[in-house]
Amino acid sequence: MNDMNTDAGMPIAITLEPGIYFRCRCGKSSTLPFCDGGHSGDDVLPLRFELTERQKVYLCSCGKTGKAPFCDGQCGVALPK
Ligand code: FES
Repeated sequence: MNDMNTDAGMPIAITLEPGIYFRCRCGKSSTLPFCDGGHSGDDVLPLRFELTERQKVYLCSCGKTGKAPFCDGQCGVALPK
């Protein structure tokens, strides 16, 4: 996940409904952390992910995670269990 916008560098905690999501990785979206199509013309495409149930997730914004789009603690933040 090397091409991610690293402005924040901290996980983004958000509760999402079941569905398909596109995590912005270029930083141009006006609806961050999700893609709004603002990457048009870029090589950096959004990352698609799907949730099958309502859940609180921690989206990576540092670009170091090995479990994109989710934070895996590589940023140094201890996530609640
Ligand atoms: S925000 Fe990237 S690993 Fe935590």
